Amino acid sequence: MSTAENATTTEAPVTTNRKQPFPRGFLDTISTGWAERPETIPGARAQAAFAAVRRAAVSAAFPGKRLVIEAGSLKQRSNDTDYPFRAHSAFAHLTGWAADTEPDSVLVFEPTDAGHDVTLYFRERADRTTTEFYADATVGEFWIGPRPSLAGVAADLAIATEHLAVFAAGSDDLTLADAELERFVSELRLVKDAYELEEMRLAVEITARGFDDIVTALPDAARHARGERVVEGVFHRRAREDGNGEGYDTISASGPHACYLHWTRNDGAVVPGDLILVDAGVETDSLYTADITRTLPVNGTFSEVQRRVYETVLEAADAAFAIAKPGIKFRELHETAMGVIAKRTAEWGLLPVTAQEALDNEKGGQHRRYMVHGTSHHLGIDVHDCAQARREMYYDGVLEPGMVFTIEPGLYFQIDDLTVPEELRGIGVRIEDDIVVTEDGAVNLSADIPRTVDEIEAWIARLQG
Ligand code: GLY
Ligand code: MN
Ligand code: MN
Repeated sequence: MSTAENATTTEAPVTTNRKQPFPRGFLDTISTGWAERPETIPGARAQAAFAAVRRAAVSAAFPGKRLVIEAGSLKQRSNDTDYPFRAHSAFAHLTGWAADTEPDSVLVFEPTDAGHDVTLYFRERADRTTTEFYADATVGEFWIGPRPSLAGVAADLAIATEHLAVFAAGSDDLTLADAELERFVSELRLVKDAYELEEMRLAVEITARGFDDIVTALPDAARHARGERVVEGVFHRRAREDGNGEGYDTISASGPHACYLHWTRNDGAVVPGDLILVDAGVETDSLYTADITRTLPVNGTFSEVQRRVYETVLEAADAAFAIAKPGIKFRELHETAMGVIAKRTAEWGLLPVTAQEALDNEKGGQHRRYMVHGTSHHLGIDVHDCAQARREMYYDGVLEPGMVFTIEPGLYFQIDDLTVPEELRGIGVRIEDDIVVTEDGAVNLSADIPRTVDEIEAWIARLQG
């Protein structure tokens, strides 16, 4: 397809080497003969009341300040192709406008004596008498499909709307470049509301289907030279069919690749006898994402040494989950998991020190060679959610009901690590679950995706049977 002439909103210089002229007959008839089109943003109304509460919290925290929260813009991938647009998480959180957000939209909190008037500015669709409609490949409805009206968005999101053309930035505006505002909107997401918790459950539910698809496809993957891509593709299909897509690039890491923590090249073979580590999460249309890892024996059965490593990681995960409840510190999750990892790696003779010495804050850490990453992070509309929260609210913070985070210990014995016996080299295991804190404990949202050795072997046998 090529960009037609008379583009109205594209700012970049338009090449003319393949423009087709529109003859008079087209121009005389193109703006007539059209019916009304839909106004509604799918799913938006369910979140409107929750988003209003979030905006009220922002307003109360910044009296007298004009706040400007941008959705962000399309980013060019190459020449005429852009990356899929994804609204800034703070914008989606405060508007409830998610997968269908119009690029360049801006949420403005205008200070008043009583607080703020909130207005959402966006590029309303042009009517059908304009050239934008048929000649603008970036925003024209002929090219990208129906776009919303000001009235439609105002009704769905319960926010006043204005056309983007009348938005004017002010010199005293606070934007997300301001550390205080960025921090506030990040910390606002530490405790999820009822809408968010439902979306997290949905994200996990769809992700569970994706993992079923992966297990079913493992024999196909094992027959393909780039079997890791087969696994990635199977999950992608589920993510796009049932959700908005993946919340982050899928890690499909077979054999020794499992020891590369963020292996996303995914171009390796899937070899029977090896383990495959898959770290994948579906993002819902509301943009909430799951973040789940399972490590599976490609041939359906764990070897003795694979089982030993797996069960240690599971022990660490279960130990962390067992202490999760309101009142404990977030950091205790990691410390608890690390206690298990240090104890077992010391027992196996891998450490040059005792487990107790390895756990010493100053001189220890020898066990961390085999698990360099953290055990937990907050999860929500971003896979690493609440990233600008202060340390005292995050790592040193206290768990509260409604917080959602991962528990994801692992053990990774690199293929060329001379400190471990040969039988361990090339084995990487991570188990990652999504946890919500309740009034008196915690719930593992992903507990129904098989986790134990026996459950996993039975799962593979059942789906491949
Ligand atoms: N999927 C990246 C992580 O687990 O944090
Ligand atoms: Mn994670
Ligand atoms: Mn993950």
